[in-house]
Amino acid sequence: MSTALPARVSDEVLIRSIDAYAEAAIRGQGMPTRLTEAMLYAALGPGKRVRPVLCVRACMAVNGGCLPERCATEAAAAVELVHAFSLVHDDLPAMDDDDLRRGRPTLHKAFDEATAVLAGDALQGLAMQRLAGIDRPWANQAAFELAKATNDMIAGQALDTLGGADGDDPMDDADRLERVHRLKTGALLRAACRIGALAGGARRVEPDDWEGKDDGEPWWGLDADDAGLKAVTSYADALGLMFQAVDDLLDVTSDAATLGKATQKDAEAGKLTYPGVFGVEGTRREIVRLHERAVAALAGFGLAADPLRALADRLATRTR
Ligand code: IPE
Ligand code: IPE
Ligand code: MG
Ligand code: MG
Ligand code: MG
Repeated sequence: MSTALPARVSDEVLIRSIDAYAEAAIRGQGMPTRLTEAMLYAALGPGKRVRPVLCVRACMAVNGGCLPERCATEAAAAVELVHAFSLVHDDLPAMDDDDLRRGRPTLHKAFDEATAVLAGDALQGLAMQRLAGIDRPWANQAAFELAKATNDMIAGQALDTLGGADGDDPMDDADRLERVHRLKTGALLRAACRIGALAGGARRVEPDDWEGKDDGEPWWGLDADDAGLKAVTSYADALGLMFQAVDDLLDVTSDAATLGKATQKDAEAGKLTYPGVFGVEGTRREIVRLHERAVAALAGFGLAADPLRALADRLATRTR
């Protein structure tokens, strides 16, 4: 099933298609009306759609510039459903207690708390259902990646509520910061990119091909990635840290009208953040370093990875 979209297709066109998949998935679930409306509010609100666009662009990068099949867009929509769930729960009074998201009331304010908890839960289940239900050889691995990343995100959120510390572990603040941010934010960006790459033909090495298959190691061990998947993963790992560094920076340098969410909240809430550990100027330097690392990881790709390079540029300097 080929749609062969060229790389020059705009993000706006991609996002329309991603949103259409998300909307159809939510409506097709036949949930109670109020819950359906809450899920649509969370999934289709005016967010940036960074993760699904990354997913589709990673697919194009490994595939030489074309989008080989529309299932990559459906997989991208599943990643965004998990992101939408994470934001709904992140904003709850028991978590960050935020009233404003994407320039509008948070879901528990627009609806109610019970509906927000359930909408988040339902979005997560729906994402897994849709991804695992894609009839392609890569879908099983993609569903594994998304499920694992979702749990990593939740682990990161748990550490975030504890100021980054897990009991009396002996890590310093910089290491703790990296651990929290890799988990709470990096994991989903990484899964977005890897799922796109898998859909574009990058592959895990199957047990029969893998030299280490007899040593008792699981075949999905990290070394089983091909070169394209490894490169996309390195890009995503640097980008994920950079993305949360920028988010932390904007909390101290921006304002709610520009950002669409409350600012000046992290320090008071005892969060472990980039500005808290490195200062504002140190954070800017970290962002430059992580941006360079992300772009360097794409060196083996040609023009087909230009949209990923452009995304890294935009996300390093974003204002919302
Ligand atoms: C916000 O993510 C939560 C973080 C992980 C920092 P985004 O900045 O991608 O939020 P939306 O989807 O554009 O609203
Ligand atoms: C959220 O981090 C990470 C998630 C898993 C949602 P933040 O709590 O900093 O995100 P914002 O600033 O509320 O968007
Ligand atoms: Mg939070
Ligand atoms: Mg928050
Ligand atoms: Mg934040």
